[in-house]
Amino acid sequence: MTGRRAALGLGLAAGAASGAAAQGRPTLREAARGRGLVFGTAVQSQMLATDAGLRALAQREAELWVPAWEAKWGPVQPEEGRFEFAPLRALLQLAQPSGQRLRGHCLVWHEANPPWLAPALAEGPARARRVLEEHFRVVLGTTAPAMRDWDVVNEFIANPPGSDNPSASPGDLRDTPWLRALGPGYVELALRTARQLDRTLRLTLNDYGVEADTPPAAEKRARLLRQVRGLLDRGAPLDAIGIQAHLQMREPFRPEPFITFCQELRSMGLAVLVTELDIREPDVLAPNVPTRDQAVADYIGRFVSAALEGGVRTILTWGLADRESWLVSTPSVARADGATTRGLPFDDALRPKPFRDALLDAFARV
Ligand code: XIL
Repeated sequence: MTGRRAALGLGLAAGAASGAAAQGRPTLREAARGRGLVFGTAVQSQMLATDAGLRALAQREAELWVPAWEAKWGPVQPEEGRFEFAPLRALLQLAQPSGQRLRGHCLVWHEANPPWLAPALAEGPARARRVLEEHFRVVLGTTAPAMRDWDVVNEFIANPPGSDNPSASPGDLRDTPWLRALGPGYVELALRTARQLDRTLRLTLNDYGVEADTPPAAEKRARLLRQVRGLLDRGAPLDAIGIQAHLQMREPFRPEPFITFCQELRSMGLAVLVTELDIREPDVLAPNVPTRDQAVADYIGRFVSAALEGGVRTILTWGLADRESWLVSTPSVARADGATTRGLPFDDALRPKPFRDALLDAFARV
């Protein structure tokens, strides 16, 4: 692939068909908007195309969509030089009549990569740099002007000792093919490349494991703050930090350290977003569904209120209904006991759960 591809061909849509409010309460989209917030969700083009209920829910409830899969390196550049944008175009087409904006996820990550990428990076820094620059050039050139906000690097901080998947190597940065090929400057290189290609793109670094009141989460917060400070000191272009918020109820949450963390990022001039909110229920489930759902909602309410207090203004969940959740479909994060996690705002019949009400209540307090 040589020349610049045609743009996705769809600009931002005006207006919004928000549909009927669910069960007498406003939609999450309307409630957020009324408070100057943005509520969004991850979507999957295939699911939206085949599941009319999910499609209507995503169009009604969310202001912002993020492709859960379609913009990752593997689907976008499955073979070197062959770029694939059909699923992203399909999403944009679905978003247009209902007025959703799309954010981009993600340009550099150690997962969801095509088989050719790691060997190419291993050929050395010059080759790695060319591969990165070409991918950014084509992807950002094609997705502009529809996608104005990208997770430029996803999950770049190493997991401290005591985490679920602790890093085997020392240092703040996760050991990935990108780090091995380009050294610790790869994050800055990615940010600078994106900024050079598109001066007004909002550049975000996205990560997880920084939410809980546990020693590993505290250490990961410290690592992220240290790395971000270093990037800003070196003049790297950076606009926002995305906090994934794949929460786990077996981990304690306390508002104060998390609010302080958000405020420290904000004091560096950065926006802070919650980008992938969902929650895993505890290993031992409460005895019945209403009790489970209430416990989920209580945790979510405390977390989202803290995020809002810390200055977060954009909140995305990783899907809306349990039947589309990766917590159900992905073995590495699904429950060991086979039960379905009730970790999203709507149930399988697309009825709102107390999780949804906890979001509405937190929004209303802003
Ligand atoms: C997940 C998707 O939801 C799954 O469908 C896919 O199989 C794996 O990736 N952090 C991220 C997301 O940044 O990209 C991940 O999405 C979930 C964890």
